[in-house]
Amino acid sequence: MSRETCFRLCPLTSLPDRSARGFSIHRQGTELDLLVVREGPRIHAYVNSCPHTGATLDWVPHQFLDAEGKHIQCATHGALFRLRDGYCVFGPCAGQSLTPVPVEVVDEDVVIRTVVKR
Ligand code: FES
Repeated sequence: MSRETCFRLCPLTSLPDRSARGFSIHRQGTELDLLVVREGPRIHAYVNSCPHTGATLDWVPHQFLDAEGKHIQCATHGALFRLRDGYCVFGPCAGQSLTPVPVEVVDEDVVIRTVVKR
Protein backbone atom coordinates (compact mmCIF):
# COMPACT_ATOMS: atom_id res chain seq x y z
CA MET A 1 0.00 0.00 0.00
CA SER A 2 1.26 3.51 -0.71
CA ARG A 3 0.16 7.06 -0.28
CA GLU A 4 1.15 10.36 -1.80
CA THR A 5 2.98 12.88 0.35
CA CYS A 6 3.15 16.55 -0.50
CA PHE A 7 6.09 18.78 0.48
CA ARG A 8 5.61 22.54 0.21
CA LEU A 9 9.14 23.79 -0.36
CA CYS A 10 8.87 27.56 -0.66
CA PRO A 11 6.73 30.38 -2.03
CA LEU A 12 7.19 30.82 -5.78
CA THR A 13 8.03 34.49 -5.14
CA SER A 14 11.15 33.45 -3.22
CA LEU A 15 12.58 31.86 -6.38
CA PRO A 16 13.44 34.59 -8.91
CA ASP A 17 13.95 33.78 -12.58
CA ARG A 18 17.22 31.88 -13.21
CA SER A 19 17.82 31.13 -9.59
CA ALA A 20 18.00 27.87 -7.67
CA ARG A 21 17.59 26.69 -4.10
CA GLY A 22 18.45 23.52 -2.29
CA PHE A 23 16.12 21.58 0.00
CA SER A 24 16.27 18.45 2.10
CA ILE A 25 13.11 16.44 2.57
CA HIS A 26 12.68 13.53 4.92
CA ARG A 27 10.67 10.54 3.82
CA GLN A 28 10.54 7.06 5.22
CA GLY A 29 13.48 7.72 7.51
CA THR A 30 15.81 8.93 4.78
CA GLU A 31 16.86 12.38 3.72
CA LEU A 32 16.61 13.40 0.08
CA ASP A 33 18.59 16.44 -1.11
CA LEU A 34 16.99 18.34 -3.97
CA LEU A 35 17.53 21.45 -5.97
CA VAL A 36 14.78 23.51 -7.49
CA VAL A 37 15.51 25.92 -10.33
CA ARG A 38 13.28 28.53 -11.96
CA GLU A 39 13.53 29.25 -15.67
CA GLY A 40 10.98 31.92 -16.53
CA PRO A 41 7.53 30.49 -15.85
CA ARG A 42 8.88 26.94 -15.51
CA ILE A 43 10.11 25.22 -12.35
CA HIS A 44 12.40 22.18 -12.47
CA ALA A 45 13.58 19.95 -9.64
CA TYR A 46 16.39 17.40 -9.49
CA VAL A 47 18.06 15.18 -6.96
CA ASN A 48 21.15 17.03 -5.72
CA SER A 49 23.61 14.39 -6.88
CA CYS A 50 26.06 14.64 -9.77
CA PRO A 51 25.97 11.62 -12.10
CA HIS A 52 29.79 11.69 -12.24
CA THR A 53 30.53 10.72 -8.62
CA GLY A 54 27.30 11.23 -6.69
CA ALA A 55 28.67 14.37 -5.02
CA THR A 56 26.26 17.16 -4.19
CA LEU A 57 26.29 19.86 -6.85
CA ASP A 58 26.58 22.95 -4.65
CA TRP A 59 29.70 24.03 -2.81
CA VAL A 60 27.93 26.88 -1.06
CA PRO A 61 24.30 26.44 0.05
CA HIS A 62 21.89 27.34 -2.78
CA GLN A 63 24.72 28.01 -5.29
CA PHE A 64 23.89 25.73 -8.21
CA LEU A 65 24.08 27.88 -11.34
CA ASP A 66 26.98 29.07 -13.47
CA ALA A 67 27.82 32.78 -13.60
CA GLU A 68 25.39 33.41 -16.48
CA GLY A 69 22.54 31.51 -14.84
CA LYS A 70 22.25 29.34 -17.96
CA HIS A 71 23.31 25.99 -16.53
CA ILE A 72 23.45 24.05 -13.31
CA GLN A 73 27.15 23.68 -12.57
CA CYS A 74 28.65 20.92 -10.47
CA ALA A 75 31.00 22.41 -7.90
CA THR A 76 33.38 19.44 -7.91
CA HIS A 77 34.54 19.18 -11.54
CA GLY A 78 32.48 21.84 -13.31
CA ALA A 79 30.02 19.73 -15.32
CA LEU A 80 27.24 21.85 -16.88
CA PHE A 81 23.62 20.69 -16.99
CA ARG A 82 20.71 22.23 -18.90
CA LEU A 83 18.12 23.82 -16.65
CA ARG A 84 15.14 22.40 -18.54
CA ASP A 85 15.99 18.71 -18.38
CA GLY A 86 19.19 18.28 -16.35
CA TYR A 87 21.10 16.94 -19.38
CA CYS A 88 24.88 17.30 -19.04
CA VAL A 89 26.30 19.28 -21.97
CA PHE A 90 29.88 19.62 -20.70
CA GLY A 91 32.18 17.82 -18.30
CA PRO A 92 33.14 14.32 -17.24
CA CYS A 93 29.52 13.11 -17.24
CA ALA A 94 28.54 14.63 -20.62
CA GLY A 95 25.55 12.81 -22.05
CA GLN A 96 24.20 11.78 -18.65
CA SER A 97 21.43 13.57 -16.76
CA LEU A 98 20.44 14.67 -13.31
CA THR A 99 17.56 12.70 -11.79
CA PRO A 100 14.35 14.71 -12.24
CA VAL A 101 11.79 15.10 -9.47
CA PRO A 102 8.17 16.00 -10.31
CA VAL A 103 7.47 19.55 -9.14
CA GLU A 104 4.52 21.89 -9.50
CA VAL A 105 3.19 25.20 -8.27
CA VAL A 106 0.13 24.96 -6.01
CA ASP A 107 -1.44 28.10 -4.58
CA GLU A 108 1.78 30.03 -5.38
CA ASP A 109 3.95 27.51 -3.50
CA VAL A 110 6.57 25.20 -5.03
CA VAL A 111 5.44 21.66 -4.24
CA ILE A 112 7.01 18.22 -4.54
CA ARG A 113 4.82 15.13 -4.45
CA THR A 114 6.32 11.77 -3.66
CA VAL A 115 4.81 8.36 -3.22
CA VAL A 116 5.54 6.80 0.15
CA LYS A 117 5.09 3.05 0.65
CA ARG A 118 3.52 1.90 3.91
S1 FES B 1 31.39 15.24 -9.39
FE1 FES B 1 30.26 16.50 -10.72
S2 FES B 1 31.52 16.73 -12.45
FE2 FES B 1 32.64 15.40 -11.15
